[in-house]
Amino acid sequence: MDSFIIEGGHPLKGEIKVSGAKNAVLPLMAAALLAPGKSVLSNVPKLIDLKIMAHLLRVIGARVDYENEQMAIDATTCTCYEAPYELVSQMRASIYVLGPLLGRFKKAIVSFPGGCAIGSRPVDLHLMGFEKMGAKIEIEHGDIIAECKGGLKGAEIEFPFVSVGATANILMGAVLAEGITTIKNAALEPEISHLVDFLSLMGAKIEGKDTSTLTIEGVKELKPADIRVIADRIEAGTFIIAAAITKSPLKVVNCNPEHLKALMIKLEQAGCHFRIEDNDIFVLPAEEIKPVDIVTEPFPSFPTDLQAQFMTYMALANGCSHITETIYPDRFLHAAELNRLNANISVKNGTATINGVQCLSGAEVMATDLRASAALVLAGLVAKGQTKISRIYHIDRGYDKIEEKLSNVGANIKRVLG
Ligand code: UD1
Repeated sequence: MDSFIIEGGHPLKGEIKVSGAKNAVLPLMAAALLAPGKSVLSNVPKLIDLKIMAHLLRVIGARVDYENEQMAIDATTCTCYEAPYELVSQMRASIYVLGPLLGRFKKAIVSFPGGCAIGSRPVDLHLMGFEKMGAKIEIEHGDIIAECKGGLKGAEIEFPFVSVGATANILMGAVLAEGITTIKNAALEPEISHLVDFLSLMGAKIEGKDTSTLTIEGVKELKPADIRVIADRIEAGTFIIAAAITKSPLKVVNCNPEHLKALMIKLEQAGCHFRIEDNDIFVLPAEEIKPVDIVTEPFPSFPTDLQAQFMTYMALANGCSHITETIYPDRFLHAAELNRLNANISVKNGTATINGVQCLSGAEVMATDLRASAALVLAGLVAKGQTKISRIYHIDRGYDKIEEKLSNVGANIKRVLG
């Protein structure tokens, strides 16, 4: 298993480029299954999660080609409506094929995605939505067997709380359903709006983009479409924190500042400043880091996917801060690893208390999940001495060549093949 060796204390300088968003590409790939023909996604990063999804689409019968950040998906020859355990168990987002398969084939067998390191992650809202649309759903030997003989029917679906995945899945099922579907309490995440854009290009009729009520009028058929994937706001946010924590004026380019407001507000409270030029954010870091509390919530509030990275930053604040995680209350495995680097963090009942320390010091740590790995990389950049991070396959799931990007702006980070 590969690891990273980081020599801390090197300032960063220059420009760092943000790639396309993993969490945007995943539903787009599934949506491409809805129409026979070739859809082309551009600005697609090279990530393990996308490789797993491409494999799944090929099992379903699609042709998927990836070259030069461009992914072509030809769904003409799709015949299989089954997503097997060996793939779904590797990546929860495989559940995204449920809506498109039900829409196109009126039947789907998708293995139940299990929990993961960040806690239990049920799919009951996805299933509740499809049942409301007339699907019969049974769980057998850990497989979700869903069928709707006459096709999905429009329905009014109100989620009791916001789910990105359930919103995307129901949306993809509704575009080919008979009649009108209303999704209330829909997720507002930019990746959902991007999916709405893609489905609309395919010929879907959707109203309410960027609001919490989406109204979808089902159409008989869709056509393939091409789209340029939006920038990854979580990768951008990680680089912004890299600049802040190393106290380096760094330009984060090719991102959408509108998607990063919640993070920038909190970093401003900590003492940072920003200069925004179109799609670039120039970070002017704080000399002294003020402690700031955050609560993770659905967009447009502070994203859970930047919680771990923000915790690393607060570990060096001049005082005590709190992080409350409302999306995944158990998502704090990184706290113990950060403590190995001399941080002072305790966790109780979904809230972390971070007592800022003067400096972090290098040690051997272990990546426990995707965003936790990013938090450890940030810590390594600023810790005294050497930090070794093992199990970095987690980071390869969601960050395209992070060590190369950080080295190019001055970090001393090397991958050790293992
Ligand atoms: C997506 C993101 C993930 C991010 C998360 C929250 C992708 C591929 N992943 O995950 O990076 O951390 O949004 O912003 O886009 N829940 C249920 N029942 C359900 C569905 C969800 O109880 O049927 C719960 C989850 O356990 C969690 C909360 O709802 O506590 C939000 O989850 P959701 O928004 O669905 O997350 P994902 O779509 O899985």
